[in-house]
Amino acid sequence: MRYLTGLQPSGQLHIGNYFGAILPAVRLQEKGEAFYFIANYHAMTTMSSPQALHDNTRGLAVDFLACGLDPKKAVFFAQSAVPEVNELAWILSTVCPMGLLERCHSYKEKMARGIAATHALFAYPALMAADILLYDSDAVPVGKDQKQHLEVTRDLAGKMNETFGQLFKLPEPVISESTAVVPGLDGQKMSKSYGNAVPIFGEEKELRKLINKKIVTDTTPLEAPKPTENSIILALYKLFASPESYDCMVRQHLAGGVGYGQFKKDLFEAYWEYFRPAREKREWLLTNPGYVDDVLTTGASRAREEASKTLTRIRRAVGLAWL
Ligand code: ADP
Ligand code: TRP
Repeated sequence: MRYLTGLQPSGQLHIGNYFGAILPAVRLQEKGEAFYFIANYHAMTTMSSPQALHDNTRGLAVDFLACGLDPKKAVFFAQSAVPEVNELAWILSTVCPMGLLERCHSYKEKMARGIAATHALFAYPALMAADILLYDSDAVPVGKDQKQHLEVTRDLAGKMNETFGQLFKLPEPVISESTAVVPGLDGQKMSKSYGNAVPIFGEEKELRKLINKKIVTDTTPLEAPKPTENSIILALYKLFASPESYDCMVRQHLAGGVGYGQFKKDLFEAYWEYFRPAREKREWLLTNPGYVDDVLTTGASRAREEASKTLTRIRRAVGLAWL
């Protein structure tokens, strides 16, 4: 079984990214062959600063490794280290009906947020399909918001197969239902674009303040029982605390006598402890940039080997290889 996923280097990672994308990917590297990459071509659809793109790409490599990606188990690389993917994206786009892309929510949602409606933003799902099909992936761990792009990928693989003969298998999305949507500080889906995110890494004092000041709570007095339904504190605490500690916090909500300030403090402590090993690994990685370079270089050459095999097969099938 081959698992593949990509993450865009478009900003600081938050705990929604961690539980929705990173942790499932890290778990799957134990179960099969894993190909994980930093989607820096994709990030160009929303970023234009070369320095930021470069720094975020490196930053994401460090953070992904810190969060448990094991380069002995997973092939880890930057998307742009395998430029062959653009050729496959072009070939796929020749069988891609306009309507298929026009229906994509992510494009419409990004335009609504004021992101420039470039051809790249529109064609983004065709590049994502190429990412997936170039490595003959069986399964793709992603968050719920990416499900439609997986449908586009399957459609394009099917159209290629109809037009040129059996070339691709149809990849399956892997969506973890338990962590499908991590709520943000305001209770909406956590997202870097909504300003409601809790970063995985950051300065202790600032993060403590963020959790203490920004989580929205009601005005129930300290002595009174507190609602457990739709509680942002409980939903986040559940991700980090042991089942016993979580049950204890639920009981404290029901009994009353404990204030939101204390619950937020408990939440912060659980979150801070949870990421302690990752923080320590990250410190090490930041002082060993040569290690990160080696991982990405090795990953890129392994990925390129695979890519060139697929592309040879495709070029032959579509009539581009004439020698
Ligand atoms: P953002 O919404 O912050 O811009 P991205 O769109 O870059 O995040 O998402 C990167 C990955 O993290 C995707 O696989 C996405 O599904 C997952 N993800 C993002 N936010 C959440 C969330 N709140 N809960 C679960 N998964 C999430
Ligand atoms: N579009 C994905 C996101 O924004 C990133 C991505 C690019 C991806 N190519 C991929 C994810 C291939 C899975 C497979 O999160």
